[in-house]
Amino acid sequence: MNGNGADNVLDVKNLSVSFRTVRGTVQALRNVSLMVPKNKIVGIVGESGCGKSTLINSMLRLLAANSMVGDSSSIAFQGREVLAMNERDLQAMRGQKISMVFQDPMTALNPVISIGTQMTDILYRQPSSMAEKRERAAAMLGQVGIPDPVRRLDDYPHQFSGGMRQRICIAMALMMNPSLLIADEPTTALDVTLEAQIIHLMKELREQFECSMLFVSHNLGLIAELCDEVIVMYAGEVVEQGKVHDLFHRAQHPYTQMLLECDPARIAETSRDLPTISGSVPDLVDLPPGCIFSPRCPKRYEPCNKAPPDTFNVNDIHSARCFQVRDA
Ligand SMILES: Nc1ncnc2c1ncn2[C@@H]1O[C@H](COP(=O)(O)OP(=O)(O)O)[C@@H](O)[C@H]1O
Ligand code: SF4
Ligand SMILES: [Mg+2]
Repeated sequence: MNGNGADNVLDVKNLSVSFRTVRGTVQALRNVSLMVPKNKIVGIVGESGCGKSTLINSMLRLLAANSMVGDSSSIAFQGREVLAMNERDLQAMRGQKISMVFQDPMTALNPVISIGTQMTDILYRQPSSMAEKRERAAAMLGQVGIPDPVRRLDDYPHQFSGGMRQRICIAMALMMNPSLLIADEPTTALDVTLEAQIIHLMKELREQFECSMLFVSHNLGLIAELCDEVIVMYAGEVVEQGKVHDLFHRAQHPYTQMLLECDPARIAETSRDLPTISGSVPDLVDLPPGCIFSPRCPKRYEPCNKAPPDTFNVNDIHSARCFQVRDA
């Protein structure tokens, strides 16, 4: 996809990450390129083990000690190379410019410290008084829909429901006015009603905060509702990316097409069983010679087993890594 670098909060190019293990080298990410434009929400979708967390950990430079990053990899955050940052710059980026919301709010919140203290702690670098910090914390709680926020500052995480706790995590993530909010499966632990409420909240917040979002989910329906752009990952590669509307209506990669068929939102109520994609993600220590998806692909044909496909443009806002796009 095309784009002007200056308009992107995040610009990842040719990112390759592997892990040394006793079994051999796990090639967890291979030549991943993606952009998060200013004030846009980008969704990342893919099955478990596709490299979503490795990608996020690379952006924050929080990879495990057995990791290796490829020489030609680049991660530019607000125009600065993350892979070349020193520890001080990394700390500043992680704490103030990029915020994270995780799947399980209980792991992100400290159970023995009140919500108000946890929220004001985030502002420890700011010169304002404690009263001002508490006022800001209460205002943020109000913005994410916590009733009676001033009084609730003194409550502890267990005194809130699961949905309210995730709202608190979102409020905490927004306390520093981040340029990029990364949400890794933020609604997976919630039931569908609460999930819908959180997505509605995130849509509202994007109007109020000038913030880009990277939203990781295995639920394509949620991505369609919230995101502007979507990146489909399979076994460590970006296999398709594009504007959400284009990708949903004209999915080109057989993996994306199969994910769409599995989406509960698209399945008639009468069918009881969720279709699943048969087979599993290949062993990343021993990759198949041709297209990474070929062992599972119902549409594979003669070129697919010989060499991996390049990424081919469907149009200037939509691309897919599949020979069918080239040969169409
Ligand atoms: N520290 C590590 N050492 C070895 N393999 C790892 C390590 N971290 C992740 N992996 C492997 O990298 C692949 C991608 O994992 P991950 O990024 O967690 O995927 P996802 O978040 O999409 O589920 C998986 O095969 C996983 O087993
Ligand atoms: S390149 Fe071939 S095997 Fe790979 S996804 Fe496309 S049709 Fe399927
Ligand atoms: Mg993960």
